Amino acid sequence: MPAFAKKRVSRSSSGIIRILLLATSVLLAATGCMNVGPGPRSYSVAVLGDIHYTPAWATNNYSRAYKEMWKELSPNMLAASAETVGRDTAFALQLGDIVDVSSTQVLAEAASVLDRTYGSLPIVAVCGNHDVGRGYFAKYMVPWQSAHMGNLSTNEIKTTTFGFRTGPDLWIVIDFGAGERSVGMVEKILADNPDVRYTFVAIHGPVLPMDVWRLRWFYLGYEGVNAARRKMRAMLAKRNAIVFSAHVHALEYKDWYGDGGRITEMVLNSVTCEAGKGPKPGEPVVISETPDDYGAFLKNAEKNDANLKFDALFEEYRPGLKARYAARAGGHHVLRVSDSGVVLEYYGLDSREPTKTFTLR
Ligand SMILES: [Fe+2]
Repeated sequence: MPAFAKKRVSRSSSGIIRILLLATSVLLAATGCMNVGPGPRSYSVAVLGDIHYTPAWATNNYSRAYKEMWKELSPNMLAASAETVGRDTAFALQLGDIVDVSSTQVLAEAASVLDRTYGSLPIVAVCGNHDVGRGYFAKYMVPWQSAHMGNLSTNEIKTTTFGFRTGPDLWIVIDFGAGERSVGMVEKILADNPDVRYTFVAIHGPVLPMDVWRLRWFYLGYEGVNAARRKMRAMLAKRNAIVFSAHVHALEYKDWYGDGGRITEMVLNSVTCEAGKGPKPGEPVVISETPDDYGAFLKNAEKNDANLKFDALFEEYRPGLKARYAARAGGHHVLRVSDSGVVLEYYGLDSREPTKTFTLR
């Protein structure tokens, strides 16, 4: 309202305006539109990539390096992450591979490690490929998830793909192992929440192809599901989605434009023993700072294996890739969300100060 108009609003009319605003917000809440989520417009999230929890009692079936990492490096990192939690922290997010070798017992131990770290804060745990086991994640962690949503959702969580709201934003947790089965579920979540400020996705496997070995192991990456991959890409791009993934055990930022919109993806790593050996502990060891060499690693690999044929896939994405950063790094993260933007802070290992900051919006 312009300043000159202010004087013309009488007490009675300002009361009517308040009633109208209240009625509008009730109507919007009923129709699933803007501002129905709990919490304020400005908030932060404590974010972890893969953690591969490995218990002290681990036998020879477990990774020796991960068992060693869980003696000191990873507990120290979690202690530092706990210190980032403040009054504006809406929840903690773990992006999958919460365990290395899945069983109900190891999942329960890993989940209690997160409980001890974040206390009463809501925690969202994404299903990773190491977590699935023989249905262990679905059996143990799905009920656990319902009990850990706090004020984020009063709905019972019944599947490993689900959505929830924080203030004006939509969060979609996707089980990337569900492949094509998740597409319809994501489509419905998007349709039910049409008018949001930011659409965030939390998923274990990246949405944009990875220029590393096992390239096809990204979300909907197998050749047989090309149509589903393109459909999902268009759905997320139209919402200008901001994606948080893990799986690669590296730190990556990609900003892709296409399909009538934009997908910004951060790949995060909290496997502390694979942080890279920089001059300072946790300091990123840069692999690339340009979109120009996206796909170069696998193009080189193709020289030795004619069956790989990855270049056509990268050609689909390369023209739209406007920014890329990739590094060996590992630690914890804080996401800061507000009307003025979205920023992701990377804290190397157990750092108390941000090591590197990415402005996503
Ligand atoms: Fe992993």
